[in-house]
Amino acid sequence: MAKENMESSLVADASRDKMDKIISLCKRRGFIFQSSEIYGGIGGVYDFGPLGVEMKRNLKDEWWRKFVTSREDMVGLDAGIIMNAKVWEASGHTGSGFTDPLRECKKCHHRFRADQLEKDVCPDCGGELTEEKSFNILVKTFLGPVEDSSTLTYLRGETAQGIFVNFKNVTESSRKKIPFGIAQIGKAFRNEITPGNYIFRTREFEQAEIEYFITPDKEESKKWYTTWIDAVKHFYTDLGIKEDNLAIYEHPKEKLSHYSIGTSDIEYKYPFGQSELAGIAQRTDFDLSQHTKFSGTDLSYFDEQGGKRFIPYVVEPSMGIDRALLAFLCDAYDESDGSDGRESGEVTLRLHPKLAPVKVAVFPLMKKEGLPEVAKKISDELKAAGLNVFYDESGSVGRRYRRQDEIGTPWCVTVDFDSLKDNSVTIRDRDTMKQERVAIDKVTEHICGKLK
Ligand code: GAP
Repeated sequence: MAKENMESSLVADASRDKMDKIISLCKRRGFIFQSSEIYGGIGGVYDFGPLGVEMKRNLKDEWWRKFVTSREDMVGLDAGIIMNAKVWEASGHTGSGFTDPLRECKKCHHRFRADQLEKDVCPDCGGELTEEKSFNILVKTFLGPVEDSSTLTYLRGETAQGIFVNFKNVTESSRKKIPFGIAQIGKAFRNEITPGNYIFRTREFEQAEIEYFITPDKEESKKWYTTWIDAVKHFYTDLGIKEDNLAIYEHPKEKLSHYSIGTSDIEYKYPFGQSELAGIAQRTDFDLSQHTKFSGTDLSYFDEQGGKRFIPYVVEPSMGIDRALLAFLCDAYDESDGSDGRESGEVTLRLHPKLAPVKVAVFPLMKKEGLPEVAKKISDELKAAGLNVFYDESGSVGRRYRRQDEIGTPWCVTVDFDSLKDNSVTIRDRDTMKQERVAIDKVTEHICGKLK
């Protein structure tokens, strides 16, 4: 094998290896499970276990705090997953705007995304493939006791449309003035032909989307577009993603949807390749105009300052929660080479404390002489302060530290025999492994202070 090829295949092996290790850790420690696993699973759907659900909630809370509650120009929304089918006609999702190119093998009938095929024959059996056709990826369902075209509807393909159809309700009730945004976090569904790369491309996933409404002006749109690209990028880096692992990909003009005047993706260097993490799009007045046309309800806005009525333009920062979670896990995954005081191969998940599923673990050094009682009291106090605490009294302390490092717990509190005399405990930091003595009655304040 030529040197270059050998090197790139070693990199590919290492990346696959890293991904396999992350997947295995996520299952073993209760972050992510395959959906319906005991029935053989279902393609493209995952369940979040006890640690995964905590981490996901932390991620969503941080997003909500950063983009909604800490700002004056934002409000939230939680629209239904199922909407009137006309919403999806108006938005273009039932037409050619929400399709994947599909080819099917005439022999084994496996289906593939045409744009992902490397050869003109079936990658599974070498059979002949059908011509490419468009496959709509909206997930269909029927609502009501009859299954016909009158009850056909869809599970939402994006959360964004729930925002557009509520534009009038929100402006009238919240009296927000342009520029302002509406944010929503929720499930979206897509019948992806080839889900894959773990939780990167799934059929059921969560989105966190903002529709930011502005005056209908291209310059104004460009200004907010740049501002939002920057804000979303900072969301990731502020929570620990290494800047070098992010990239901005600006869509070429000829590939943009007819209504878009600019779209950029924020990409992350996943172990399986650099791919989209979030998208920021300038959608002009397309969506509100379409819904005005299809519903007959006027979705224009009266600008009191300028004395004018218009349909606002919109800039849309949209991100996948599951993809972000995967990026945070990949970025935090660290295997020791043995030079930092840990054993070679030991894993530390260096998650930002705000994202870590367990904030603090509390250990009595031994199960005797009143140590568990003191440790339980500390644990209860930390819980009462709203922290997710893990109490553990089994195994050696070294082993207990390793178990917490592997799930990203930033701090471990150990109650030892000295604690009974000096009323203080040891707090050990996950990243530096440094230990400090802290008075028992100051532990909660100490940990909460670090989380601010
Ligand atoms: N409203 C715009 C919109 O939905 P998109 O690029 O199709 O745009 C936005 O999706 C984000 O949703 C993506 O950047 C990605 O993070 C996430 N996403 C899209 N499809 C996904 C899938 N099949 N699985 C997981 N996340 C997905």
